[in-house]
Amino acid sequence: MPDDLTTWLHILYGFTHDIAIAVYIGGAVAMEFILGPAQASIPPAQAQVMGQKTADRFLWLVWGALGTILVTGVLRLERLEMLTWSWPFFETPLVLSDSYGRTMLAMFLLWCVLVVNGALITFVFRPRLAGKLNTKITAAQVAAAQGAKLQAANWVQRLTRIDLGVALVIALMGASLKWGGLI
Ligand code: HEM
Repeated sequence: MPDDLTTWLHILYGFTHDIAIAVYIGGAVAMEFILGPAQASIPPAQAQVMGQKTADRFLWLVWGALGTILVTGVLRLERLEMLTWSWPFFETPLVLSDSYGRTMLAMFLLWCVLVVNGALITFVFRPRLAGKLNTKITAAQVAAAQGAKLQAANWVQRLTRIDLGVALVIALMGASLKWGGLI
């Protein structure tokens, strides 16, 4: 059993990092393989409400997990004494001449992709799914509004699918770090 604080912090940061990753990937898997297929078998009007409500809850998970992953990842690097508070801040092997550093940079950039996709869903496509249709508009306007909602829902699904693939690639890279890195 570890008897010093440093080891306990390694364990705590690693544990929290892994739980946040599990929440992120697990959430995306549930959306893709459970919710998506289930939604396809219920009437469109109900599917739309369900999609909207689940997207709201899912987004809380996504942002919480992405924030936790970054914070715990940085804390781990600091514990491992690869990130320091004095120049040049990055210590070997966290440098680009080392596979560890290159893999970590790739992980960070891909994490940024997850953030951009999350922002697109939250601020662009999710608002388009919200709101009831105005009853005083013409049938053509109703059809156009419904078409726009459907398109937004398709984009949310596409981006969630991309996020799942990207997160799995990052996880593979993360698993390789202990063995020196992947690229
Ligand atoms: C963007 C910021 C991130 C940083 C700074 C970071 C940092 C780290 C560090 C320092 C380790 C331990 C490496 C070692 O033992 O030498 C690690 C492991 C790992 N990371 Fe990350 N990570 C980040 C994002 C992610 C993301 C987005 C995922 C997956 C979705 C991920 C998945 C993993 C996995 C699977 C491991 C191996 C298991 C473990 O040791 O916990 N990481 N990461």
